Amino acid sequence: MKALVKIGGSLLDDPGSRSDIARQLAAVSASGVQLTVVHGGGKQMTRFLEERGVKSSFVRGLRVTTDETVDAVLKVLAGTVNTQLVAALGAVGLRAVGLTGIDSGVATAVQLDPELGFVGKVESSDPRLLETLTGAGYVPVVACVAGGKAGEVYNVNGDSMAVAVASGWKVDRLVFLTDVPGVMNAAKEILPLLTVADCQQLIADGVATGGMQAKLNAACDAVTGGVGEVRIVRGSDADIVARVFAGEQTGTRVIQAGVFQA
Ligand SMILES: Nc1ncnc2c1ncn2[C@@H]1O[C@H](COP(=O)(O)OP(=O)(O)OP(=O)(O)O)[C@@H](O)[C@H]1O
Ligand SMILES: [Mg+2]
Repeated sequence: MKALVKIGGSLLDDPGSRSDIARQLAAVSASGVQLTVVHGGGKQMTRFLEERGVKSSFVRGLRVTTDETVDAVLKVLAGTVNTQLVAALGAVGLRAVGLTGIDSGVATAVQLDPELGFVGKVESSDPRLLETLTGAGYVPVVACVAGGKAGEVYNVNGDSMAVAVASGWKVDRLVFLTDVPGVMNAAKEILPLLTVADCQQLIADGVATGGMQAKLNAACDAVTGGVGEVRIVRGSDADIVARVFAGEQTGTRVIQAGVFQA
């Protein structure tokens, strides 16, 4: 089985949380699952820019990305966050390899929208490097940075990156570990099952905003593009990764449509 686990930046900010997730991923890998990890780092990016007096701004949950932001993306996401995660995975015995989408065409992008600057929309994901690595027992750890055809560097939302890589590598499972227990309705109740139409409604109603708006848009792209379901769970819940892989119905499942596909 091939699985892609996307880890949100908040879960990677402290060493304890990193090693807890690493330990869980090691158990999944030991059970015979081929794993690729994609990570975000929104919180770390905002903090890094703030420390330099740069205020972050977002449009539809996506970070407006200037030249200066791209440089920060490379330093923070491809640098610190990626390397710290690779170190945590290595410490529990996984042969983790840190990459960005720029390595060997793992993610090639075009500009999504001039209004957003250097935010990329991934147009293709070459699975060959991931197949080579996972086939030889390595765990690729991909920072959400993509390359353009002319050598440009694009900032890609972590969830979009995960979906693009999952589609190219043809995963059996796609799991988003985030900092909330699932997608919530206006009354803050967790919604266990969402179709694409439900997700669009939550966004239109202003209930799913910011990072969750971006996450649901990415999840909809995934299930529309042939991924069976996307699971959104809180990464800090005890043994969450094992529970999801054991089939426990926790968090939110996004599917294309209809109860019969549930
Ligand atoms: N309806 C909603 N239900 C749940 N969370 C929501 C909702 N609307 C907005 N959010 C926000 O979305 C956030 C999750 O998205 P966010 O982008 O911050 O995390 P992530 O994608 O896991 O991390 P990263 O962006 O670093 O990869 C939650 O912390 C919450 O504040
Ligand atoms: Mg996010």
